Amino acid sequence: MFDALARQPDDPLLALIGLYRKDERPGKVDLGVGVYRDETGHTPIFRAVKAAETRLLKTQDTKAYVGPEGDHVFLDHLWTLVGGDTVERSHIASVQTPGGSGALRLAADLIHRVGGRRIWLGLPSWPNHAAIFKAAGLETASYDFFDIPSQAVLFDNVIGALEGAAAGDAVLLHASCHNPTGGALTEAQWLEIAALVAERGLLPLVDLAYQGFGRGLNEDVAGLRHLIGVVPEALVAVSCSKSFGLYRERTGAIYALTASSTSADTVRSNLAGLARTSYSMPPDHGAAVVRTILADKDLAREWAEELEAMRLRMTGIRRALAEGLRTRWQALGAIADQEGMFSMLPLSEAEVLRLRSEHGIYMPTSGRINIAGLKTAEVAGVVRNFTSL
Ligand SMILES: Cc1ncc(COP(=O)(O)O)c(C=O)c1O
Repeated sequence: MFDALARQPDDPLLALIGLYRKDERPGKVDLGVGVYRDETGHTPIFRAVKAAETRLLKTQDTKAYVGPEGDHVFLDHLWTLVGGDTVERSHIASVQTPGGSGALRLAADLIHRVGGRRIWLGLPSWPNHAAIFKAAGLETASYDFFDIPSQAVLFDNVIGALEGAAAGDAVLLHASCHNPTGGALTEAQWLEIAALVAERGLLPLVDLAYQGFGRGLNEDVAGLRHLIGVVPEALVAVSCSKSFGLYRERTGAIYALTASSTSADTVRSNLAGLARTSYSMPPDHGAAVVRTILADKDLAREWAEELEAMRLRMTGIRRALAEGLRTRWQALGAIADQEGMFSMLPLSEAEVLRLRSEHGIYMPTSGRINIAGLKTAEVAGVVRNFTSL
């Protein structure tokens, strides 16, 4: 039976990692990878995470199942970080998930289950968005979110998409730190989106994967909080992979904001059922770490300080890169004002391949670069190679 299968293409980003590893040039630079790196090129474990793990190792006394909904204390603390007291807690249904990807998949499954057929997606986006929605049986309607040559968010297109959407359609929104463009929405734009989503009866699915990587822990959820304060129903998919550096521990959560506590209970039971038939129960360790950190004032402070230092490193790299690149492409001055780990450079596929072969600078052919892949000392050389194209 397996002979009937078609070979699927390898993930281009994973293939790029392989090519980078094989390159023996000492000055090679990896701008392709999707994880945070520090000034030594390492993806560190937060000190607060290590401390929490040490505590867990000493105190954990069972490995019994956690249940399909996961750890309620984790879910509660994480929501405080994300939503604060914007909405009535009893109206929220939440389930712990394997990463933000698991949260997005449960969200898509839930939308499908309630009869939602279509989800709107601004492009470019994280490639797994469209793939997850398709796998869940949803149809994706796309629009252009960002213009790479001018580095501009095409806000008129966002409004056009929301105005063209039918009541009951879902809309994917990046909470902040847009992947892959770094393009940010202003507060006024969030207000406009929220009003339109509410007016047209759309269901927003907000993807929050980089809280604390953009303007700050609270600033990165300001638009999201406004939106959920205005709409009657919403879904929020949270990933702890980047904000807590827990990538491989697969830690995340899906929150459904509903109109009543009865509705929240029904939605919770549906999310739990969807989890049960997919992977049964989420892994415990990462969520236990996040719970331990957020439940302890000192650990939470230490974690927030470490996260802030990472954010400041990225904003410093952004400023230096923008300063250098704007001499060749004026529009790239915008990189300094963009948010999070990623930006998109206006490079052709041939230029990307030349940078790779001639200078050992690795990025996907889309031109997406990971700002955190750069060390401060590498910026000048990378700018020289870009601007000599
Ligand atoms: C925009 C966005 N959403 C969600 C995720 C999901 O992350 P994970 O499943 O690793 O938590 C990512 C990861 O790269 C992402 O970039």
